[in-house]
Amino acid sequence: MPHETKGVVARAKGEPVELLDVVVPDPGPGEALVRVQASGVCHTDLHYREGAINDDFPFLLGHEAAGVVEQVGEAVSDLEPGDYVVLAWRAPCGQCRSCRRGRPWYCFDSRHEAQPLTLADGTPLTPALGIGAFTELTLIGAGGAVKVDPRARPEVAGLLGCGVMAGWGAAVNTGGVQRGETVAVFGCGGVGDAAIAGATMAGASKVIAVDIDPRKLEMARGFGATDTVDATAGDPVEAIRDLTGGFGVDVAIEAVGRPETYEQAFYARDLAGRVVLVGVPDPSMRIDLPFIELFGRGGALKSSWYGDCLPSRDFPLLIDAYLRGQLDLDAFVSETIGIGDVEAAFGKMQRGEVLRSVVVL
Ligand code: APR
Ligand code: ZN
Ligand code: ZN
Repeated sequence: MPHETKGVVARAKGEPVELLDVVVPDPGPGEALVRVQASGVCHTDLHYREGAINDDFPFLLGHEAAGVVEQVGEAVSDLEPGDYVVLAWRAPCGQCRSCRRGRPWYCFDSRHEAQPLTLADGTPLTPALGIGAFTELTLIGAGGAVKVDPRARPEVAGLLGCGVMAGWGAAVNTGGVQRGETVAVFGCGGVGDAAIAGATMAGASKVIAVDIDPRKLEMARGFGATDTVDATAGDPVEAIRDLTGGFGVDVAIEAVGRPETYEQAFYARDLAGRVVLVGVPDPSMRIDLPFIELFGRGGALKSSWYGDCLPSRDFPLLIDAYLRGQLDLDAFVSETIGIGDVEAAFGKMQRGEVLRSVVVL
């Protein structure tokens, strides 16, 4: 029996999102039906509604969620009704060329649900990042439901499904921050702050937060930043060199997604240091660097996809760190909102007023 619920839908490019009736089928083979309890509002949701990702409207938004498994389809062996899960928008398939080479965090063929959710008139919805979680019930590929300790409330657990995992993983998984290393993080939104928290947990000796907004720099200290640099007050590269004996940092993490901050990250690192790009650029952006500097400065220029995470390893690990008081996930939740408030939350996100607005269902 299909289930009827309400969902936050982007019908057309640039139009405000609407709360519409959504029909969710029973789970088929390899699928799970999940009762969503909380779902964070992410930049990617806004990018979908602006038509910046693709034109497959209408979209069912939301992809940073936690909830409880309601029903599972055939051939689902490791999930059962009642399991408390965080949803991962990429889950290793085990079969693609990357999984088979032992690099499942790059999986190129993550399995999502096969059956579409639809509007009441039967129009199929495209779920954001294959999830679609601004709805009470959603259908997902069962591999994307990762069991975690139910003592972590859904508002915080769900954040691991996207932004926090991306930032934490950029520092720990992609950047490979080691004990005693120095780190700079450009952009202290939810993603950058999670990178700061990750670098701190990994034992960085210095974590330098860079932003243009003093409110964000203040929050960054709460996540473990040892120093802050206001990029409006002068050249942040110089400031970072001054803080690191004139050399620059071992790892520079770009969490804005702009050419100018990428260039700053490039020059703010020590010789043979690493740059990690986790901010997502706009397709129109270009960068222009002297070619000789790419050679002469050595090291590594890496991009971090979803924090290069392994959801089944990293989600429970970070939830346990939260429950032990080692990772302050509560501090990422600026506000909890109702399912009808997503459009307003986009505005707050664009004005830089929140780290995360989280829809509670
Ligand atoms: N220099 C330093 N910081 C900057 C600059 C700049 N030139 N421009 C903007 N910022 C800061 C903003 O003040 C803000 O604090 O970058 C931060 C970006 O944070 P959010 O907008 O909250 O975005 P967040 O959710 O953290 O995501 C950051 O990662 O996953 C991607 O798509 C996401 O590209 C986005 C990035
Ligand atoms: Zn794969
Ligand atoms: Zn996201």
